[in-house]
Amino acid sequence: MCGIFGIITSEEQPLGPVLIEAARRLAYRGYDSVGCATVAADGTIDLRKDVGRIGEVSARLGFAEMRGRRGITQLRWATFGAPSQANAQPHLDSDGDLVGAHNGNVVNNVQLRELFIREGLTVRGTNDGETCVHAVERHYDRNGGDMIAAIRAAYADLEGDYAFVITHQNDHRLYAIKKGSGLVAGLGEGMSCVSSDLPSILPLTRRVLYVRDGEIAVLTPDGVELYSVASGERIAREPEWYDGPIEVAEKGGYPHFMLKEIHEQPAVAGELLHLLDNSPHVARFLQALQARRERPVHLVGCGTSYHACLLGAYYLGQLAGRAALPVLGPQFIEQCGACVGPEDVAVFVSQSGETKDVLNAVKVMRERGGQVLGVLNVLGSTLAQQSDCYLPLACGYEISVPATKTFVNQAVLFLYLAYRLAGRNAAELDVLPGLLAQTLDATEGAARQVARYLEPWSALHYLGYGITHPIALEAALKLKEITYAHCEGMFSSEFKHGPLSAVHSDYPVLFVTAPGDEGMMISHINEVTTRGGHAIAIAAEHPALRANADDYLVVPQAAREFMPILATLPAQLVAYYMSVARGIDPDFPRNLSKTLTVD
Ligand code: M6R
Repeated sequence: MCGIFGIITSEEQPLGPVLIEAARRLAYRGYDSVGCATVAADGTIDLRKDVGRIGEVSARLGFAEMRGRRGITQLRWATFGAPSQANAQPHLDSDGDLVGAHNGNVVNNVQLRELFIREGLTVRGTNDGETCVHAVERHYDRNGGDMIAAIRAAYADLEGDYAFVITHQNDHRLYAIKKGSGLVAGLGEGMSCVSSDLPSILPLTRRVLYVRDGEIAVLTPDGVELYSVASGERIAREPEWYDGPIEVAEKGGYPHFMLKEIHEQPAVAGELLHLLDNSPHVARFLQALQARRERPVHLVGCGTSYHACLLGAYYLGQLAGRAALPVLGPQFIEQCGACVGPEDVAVFVSQSGETKDVLNAVKVMRERGGQVLGVLNVLGSTLAQQSDCYLPLACGYEISVPATKTFVNQAVLFLYLAYRLAGRNAAELDVLPGLLAQTLDATEGAARQVARYLEPWSALHYLGYGITHPIALEAALKLKEITYAHCEGMFSSEFKHGPLSAVHSDYPVLFVTAPGDEGMMISHINEVTTRGGHAIAIAAEHPALRANADDYLVVPQAAREFMPILATLPAQLVAYYMSVARGIDPDFPRNLSKTLTVD
């Protein structure tokens, strides 16, 4: 997830230190490259950028000495185009009089770049931030140098979710536009600024103006004006005073990164779907999955990513008739290492792309001549480098140790591939982000209450049936990870084969149910409740299920295959609120690390 920051001041001054500080405050979002541009009073643009950490690139390129009346800094998290100096941001237009940087994803980047090259623009890299700058450049002259008109026209060309900031060397204003990605402006004494989020603004001013989708912010040293992209008309909105702590702002106003990341899920799922619709790599994935259907495709991961593989195997099997074998990273070597060969395909799934247990399996697959497909969140990671082809999860930086948004996007990605393999219209999935948002609204209060019930219990069970079995495992892992209670996830039919003996008075068992499985689940619930256990259902509204359960987390009605993804959210919330109720910091549970680079 990239971050942008721009500032405009009444006097020329050393802007380098301000830009470095802003970049540092955006760094928690994750990045692989950093750059700064300043515009002096005479319009000279100074642009410095490269791949690397802020401290190192800044020292090497001398950011601290940069001066100007306008400045832009950007932290890039690669999505389109590898991390490189050319792809680092900010970017110049063809003749170097416009400079700008973006945050987000322009999903028709490839098509627009080809168009710009055909039209004779100077395209230097493959990054979609550069595409934003050229998109404005293209309309700037046609509109007689009217920047607002040029941005409005560019907005119509640029598909996806993004925000960008841009300025012309001879126009002492900064322009910022928002479509899907975060953007907030700050108003100070002789200075205005704009950023992807609050933490980089608060050291400069606490008077802030939130820019909304479809709005252009025009910054001068004296203030910020908003314009509607649709009508071109001025929008009247007063700035607000932010008096919260900076640490809370970093977490988007949430007390923990985990809760912030849970609430980001509708947005990142939408961004991923946009990205997949426009990714040339999807065709390669589909081709690989379609080939040699008589051999199962291996889906390999660890922890939460393994649970996504389990769900992926259900999706590929049930929806597309494609046999898939979910395997743990280390298990792949032991169980499959000797029987895979050049005719086989394996999908390796990892948020970090650095999990050693997964990379060891990749090595074996490579040695045996098989095809390595990657699904990962951290671009530039080892898995990205070692894959024949990979798809990004497009979640931005996931800070909290428990994986949340990356799991949901792994599941969305597998569902997308299964739809495409089955010849179904993937546009049917566009309702998912809305359903995820509804699920959060509908279940957060009830999840808090359920967490209160669970808080004193040191052992409990999560049960799922069929397509919700992977969610029972994932929900149990999440709960164990951040509450330190023991929680076992199981296939509900298996419960009677031994673990049923754990049930005694009020013993909690949570049941995750997809549409069509309610009858079976009711009978499994009764095995528990007749022995005094406490049954908590996570399902869409179903009168008979409600009549049999003690508590009910009601997920919106949706297609059967959506239920595992939707039901994940209340399960994450239950774990989160139970963790907090136990006085544990869910972001940094004891003994655990976000990236496991050891065997
Ligand atoms: O980065 P990876 O997806 O490869 O990590 C694998 C597991 O370590 C990870 O999913 C872990 O289980 C999560 N922290 C659980 O929330």
